[in-house]
Amino acid sequence: MRLPFLTLLIALPMSAQTPTDRIEALLQRMTPEEKIGQLSQGVVHTPEHAEAAIAEVRAGRLGSFILSAPPEIATALRNRLQHAAVEDSRLRVPLVFGADTIHGYRTTFPIPLALASAWDPSLVERTQAVAARETRAAGIEWIFAPMSDLARDPRWGRVAETFGEDPYLGASLVAASVRGFQGDDPGAADRAAATLKHFVGYGATTGGRDYNTTDITPFTLRNAHLPPFEAGVKAGALTVMSAFNAIDGIPAVANRQLLTGVLRDEWKFPGLVVSDWESVTEAIKWGYAANDAEAARLALTAGNDIEMVSRSYRDTLAQQVADGTVQLGVIDQAVRRVLGVKLRTGIFEKPYADSDAPQRAFLQPESVALAREAAARSLVLLKNDGVLPLATSARRIALVGPLADDATEMLGTWSAHGRPEDVVTLAAGLRARLAQSATLTVARGCELLPAGPRTRALPDGSVVIDEDATRSSVTAVEADFEQAIVAAREADVIIAAVGEPRGWSGENASRADLSLTGRQPELLRALAATGKPLVVVVFSGRPLVLTEIANQTGALVQAWHPGLQGGPALAAVLCGDLPPVGRLPISFPRATGQVPVFYNHATTGRPEMVDYRDLTRDPLFPFGFGLTYTRFEFGDVEIAEPAGAGQTPVARATVTNTGERAGEAVAQLYIRDVACSEGGRPAQELRGWQRLTLAPGETRTAEFVLDDNALGFVDRQGRHRVESGDFKVWIAPHAGSGKAATYRKK
Ligand code: BGC
Repeated sequence: MRLPFLTLLIALPMSAQTPTDRIEALLQRMTPEEKIGQLSQGVVHTPEHAEAAIAEVRAGRLGSFILSAPPEIATALRNRLQHAAVEDSRLRVPLVFGADTIHGYRTTFPIPLALASAWDPSLVERTQAVAARETRAAGIEWIFAPMSDLARDPRWGRVAETFGEDPYLGASLVAASVRGFQGDDPGAADRAAATLKHFVGYGATTGGRDYNTTDITPFTLRNAHLPPFEAGVKAGALTVMSAFNAIDGIPAVANRQLLTGVLRDEWKFPGLVVSDWESVTEAIKWGYAANDAEAARLALTAGNDIEMVSRSYRDTLAQQVADGTVQLGVIDQAVRRVLGVKLRTGIFEKPYADSDAPQRAFLQPESVALAREAAARSLVLLKNDGVLPLATSARRIALVGPLADDATEMLGTWSAHGRPEDVVTLAAGLRARLAQSATLTVARGCELLPAGPRTRALPDGSVVIDEDATRSSVTAVEADFEQAIVAAREADVIIAAVGEPRGWSGENASRADLSLTGRQPELLRALAATGKPLVVVVFSGRPLVLTEIANQTGALVQAWHPGLQGGPALAAVLCGDLPPVGRLPISFPRATGQVPVFYNHATTGRPEMVDYRDLTRDPLFPFGFGLTYTRFEFGDVEIAEPAGAGQTPVARATVTNTGERAGEAVAQLYIRDVACSEGGRPAQELRGWQRLTLAPGETRTAEFVLDDNALGFVDRQGRHRVESGDFKVWIAPHAGSGKAATYRKK
C-alpha cells in the first residue's frame, strides 16, 4: 500500500526528518486558527496570568509568551504552560518563551551604553554569553536584545540601551551580542535566540521623546540606521522586532518596504519578525489603519509575523482568511518562520525547563568577575588634573553624594532580575580597597530628586500637605547637606558620586533638561568651594550636561549605571590598580539646547558658520574621547599606495606613550569622502579602531587597510558603492582631532 507523503512524514522519527519536512508536515495538519495561534504572543508575569492563558494554549491559539515572572516562579510557570501546549493541544507544538535580558539576567552588567564605551566586541560577546546562560536557565530561550538602534539624541531615555551614535561601532557590538547570545547553536542549553530591535529608526525619535515619529532621509537610513541591523542579520540573529515608531508616515510594524523589501528581499533574513508591545493595533492610533482587522492585515502582509500582546491577529485573521481578504499563503509563510525558529531553539526536543537550573547558573564567580571587568573597562575618564589615581598620602577620604552608597540605582534601567543585595556600591568598594590605608566618611548630601511636600490623609480620604512633616523633612535635608560639607572640609580628597535616577533613563524616560537633578549642582558647587582635591563620578544612563562641573572639578569619571560590580571596579580605577580604558561611544553636549550633537553629521555649505550666537557647535566631550593615566602622541598619517594590482592601500600612524605609566591607546580611523555623487557624506566616519598597549616611552604603529569597506557607502537603492576621488583620512585619539592625510582613489 502506498502511504501518502504526509502520513509517511508523521510516522518517521523526528530525527530522521529535515527541519523543512517537519515544518511542512505540521503546517499541513494545522487549521487556520492554529496557524494564527503560532503568530500570537501572550505575556505571563504571575501564576494568575498563566492560568488565564491555559485554555487558549490548549486550543492552539497562542504560540509564544513573554515570560517576565521572577526566576523563582519562572520555570514553574513555563512548565505549566508548556505542559498545556505539548500534552493537551492537538498538534503538541511547544511554546517559545521570550524576555528582555538587556544587560544581564541575574548577574547585572553595565548598561549597553557603558559596555559600548569599552570599544571591545569580545567583552560584549562574553557578557552576552553569561546573560544567555542565566536567561536560558530561567526557562527562556528567546532574548529581546540586542538593541540595534542608533542614538544621537541623549534626551531619549532609551539611549541607555543602545551602543551609541556610531553605525560602525554599533554594528560591531550588535554582531558580538548575537554571537554571545546564540553561540554556534542557539538550541544549546546555555544559549538563546537573539532579537535585533527595534527595526527601524526608533532612535531617531523626534525631539528625543519616546514613541514619537521619525523623519529619516533614505541616505541616513541606509548609512546610519540600517548597518547595525544588517550586521546582526549577517551574524545570524534568529529574530527581529519591528519598532514602535512610524517612518515616513508608515508605522514600522506595517512597513512592507522595510520588513519585506530590505530585511527579506535584500538581506535574505530567514528568521521571524515579532512586533513590539501592542504595536500592531497602535497602527490605528498612528492614523494608518481604520480598525483591528485592517491593522492585523497591514502588519502581517508587510512581513510582521508575530503580534506581541494585542489580539488583532487572534480576533480578526481567521475571518479575513475565510472572506478572502487575507491569503492563507501569507499566514503559512509567517508560520514557517516561527516554526523554523522554534526548531532552532531546541524546544521540540526539550520543551521543559529544569527547576534547579537557575540556582546553578546564576551569579557564578566567573560571571561576577566578568561584571567587574566590564564595569572597570566601561568607565571613561573625562578630566584629570593629576588628582587621579588617588595619592597614597590621601588618608581621609570623603565620599559624598546621593549615589555614593545606593545599590538599587547601580543596576540601571532594564535590570531584568538583578537585585540590590548583589550590588557592591562605590562606598563598599572603596571601604574594602582602602581598609588598611585610609578612613572613608560617607555622606549623602542631598537626594537625587527634590523632595516634594509631605502629605497626610484626612479621615474623609482627602490628602493635604502636612506642614509640620514638610518643615522637619526640610530641616533634615539641610542637616544632611551641611554634614556632607563638613566631612568634605575635613578630608584630604573628596569623591562626589552624582548622576541621574535609573528610572529617568530607559523606556518612556525621556528628559527635556540634561542637567544634574535636584540639589546636586548646588552640592558640587559647595564641595568645589572647599578647595579640596575633588573627583566627581557620574552615574547615568545617558550623557548629561556636565559643563559647569567639568570646570570646577579636578577629575571627572563617567561611570554610567555600572551594574553589580561598579563599586570594586571604580575603586580599582580610582586607586590606580587598573587604568581607565573607556572611550565615549556618544558625544557629550555642552547644553541641552545643543542636542542632537553627534560627530558624524552631514557636511554643510558653511561649515565654519554653524555655531550658535551663545555657544559653540562643539560638544563638551567628543565621540571617541577618553583619558587614561598616561599620555599618547599620534604621529602624522601616512598612506602607502598599493604596490600592485589587487592590493589595498594602507593608512599608518605611530602612537607613542609619552607618560610614565603603561596604558592602552585606542587609535581610531576616520574617513571623509570629499565629493560624493549621492550628496554630502558625513564630515567624519569611523571605519576602524585598534587598541595598542604601550609601555612608557614605547612607540607602535596603528595600521588600517583602506579597502572598499573602509571607503564605501550605501546608495539610495541599497547598493554598496565606492567612488573614485579624494578621501581625507585621520588616525586619531577621538573624533574631531588630529591632522588628516589625503588618499586619492583611482
Ligand atoms: C519594548 C521592547 C521590549 C518589549 C517586551 C516594549 O515596550 O519597547 O524593547 O522588548 O516591550 O518587553
